[in-house]
Amino acid sequence: MDSYYRQSGQNIGRGAAQIGNNLIKETRNLITELFHCPNKKVVFVSSATEALNIILQGLTIVDNFNIYISPFEHNAVVRVIEYLQTIYKLNVKELEVNKVTLDYDLEKIKYQFSEDKPNVVVISHASNVCGVLAPIEQICTMSKQYGAINVIDMCQTARAGRQGRRDAVRLPRALRAGPRCLRLSRRHRLHEAHARGG
Ligand SMILES: Cc1ncc(COP(=O)(O)O)c(C=O)c1O
Repeated sequence: MDSYYRQSGQNIGRGAAQIGNNLIKETRNLITELFHCPNKKVVFVSSATEALNIILQGLTIVDNFNIYISPFEHNAVVRVIEYLQTIYKLNVKELEVNKVTLDYDLEKIKYQFSEDKPNVVVISHASNVCGVLAPIEQICTMSKQYGAINVIDMCQTARAGRQGRRDAVRLPRALRAGPRCLRLSRRHRLHEAHARGG
C-alpha cells in the first residue's frame, strides 16, 4: 500500500490506472489461489462488517426462514441478523455447543437441522475470544443437505496460510463444492494494511 501510494496513487478502475488495475488483478488471483475459490470470485470491500452487511442483507430471505448462527458471532453478524428480524419473521437459532468445553456438538446440530431445516448458516470459523475452532466442513456438509446457504466468517483464520504454508487454509471440501458458500476474510488479518477488509 505504501509503495503504491508513493509511486502511483491512481484511482483503481479508471482508464489510466493501469498499475492499480494490474495490482488488483494480481491480488485477486493470489486470493483465489490461497482460498481455492471454486467460483473464481473475489470481491473487495472496505471492511468485514461491510462484507457481512452486503452478504446477509443481499440474501433472498422470506418469513419463517431458519437462520443458524454460532454462539461466538461477532457483532457485525449479530446486528445484521437483528436488523433482518425487524423486517422478517425469522427463527434465529444458535448451533449447539458443549456448555463446558464449548466444542460444537455435531450430533445435536444434526438433530437441530433435522427438526428445523437450515436456510442460512452463519459461522465464525474461529473465535478470538475463547479460541474455539468451528468444524465448518462437517457443519456445512450437513446444512447443504437441506440446501442451506453457508456464510463463513474467516476474519480470524484467513491469515493461517500465510506463514510459509500457503496451502494451510485449503478450503474444506464442503465449502469448495458449490456456489452456496460465502466466505469473508479481513485484509489486515492477512498482514496487509490495517483495517482494510473484504
Ligand atoms: C470474527 C470477526 N468478524 C467480523 C469482524 C469485523 O471486522 P471489520 O472491523 O473489518 O469490520 C471482526 C473484527 O475483528 C472479527 O474478528
